[in-house]
Amino acid sequence: MSSSYLATIRLGSSHWVRNLLLSLSLLIAIGFILLFAVPYFYGRGVASEAFVDSGRLPWLLAHIGTAMVALLIGPVQIWMGLTGKALPIHKLLGGIYISAIAVSSITTYYLSITTNVGWVFGAGLAGLSTAWVISTGLAFAAIRARNFDQHKEWMIRSYVVTFGFVFFRMFVGATEAASVGELSQRLTAASWFCWSVPLLVTEAILQGRKIFSNPQR
Ligand code: HEM
Repeated sequence: MSSSYLATIRLGSSHWVRNLLLSLSLLIAIGFILLFAVPYFYGRGVASEAFVDSGRLPWLLAHIGTAMVALLIGPVQIWMGLTGKALPIHKLLGGIYISAIAVSSITTYYLSITTNVGWVFGAGLAGLSTAWVISTGLAFAAIRARNFDQHKEWMIRSYVVTFGFVFFRMFVGATEAASVGELSQRLTAASWFCWSVPLLVTEAILQGRKIFSNPQR
């Protein structure tokens, strides 16, 4: 088999995997928003009472309203960026994505500091906020410097972090189903695992692809 034939298969299959992953992310994001985020706007969120009692509901609604914009735009944005399609729309959506995260991250720092779940939980979510600001900020800085490769990588990391709260709910749901620990322990573990583990896996894939696609023999 010729090397160009093998390269075509590899390229074709990676496009297939990329499109599948982005479509799945968008579907899961829509499901998460309908099941866990929208109910807070009519007082039916899983922890609505706690947010009303502590007076933090306006902050939560500002957070959810802006975070769901980023969650929905992310997969479309990454697809446009990786395929080079509809660049003017890509630029417009990029501005909306960054602005949504800028506003939402301010609210998440406030919610992390004032949480009633405990300081280790708050610190985990403040870590998630910091990873959000750094990854999105570097994606923006890279495109301003016309460094396209770094921009692509940091946008992927930024969206993995945006997806962090979806991983958070999955982790809490899975540990609850397996009856692992108490609720506060499950929430606290989730606040750290939901972003550190996905970022580690993403890094292994991003760097691993470079190692295996360009072996130095
Ligand atoms: C990626 C960065 C994010 C950070 C740092 C973050 C942080 C937080 C914090 C600190 C809380 C309050 C927790 C508490 O005190 O109980 C919270 C709650 C919440 N966030 Fe986020 N969040 C992020 C992304 C998102 C996204 C993308 C969504 C999707 C719309 C979202 C939806 C929610 C919901 C629905 C709640 C209410 C609590 C629950 O139902 O579990 N968050 N978030």
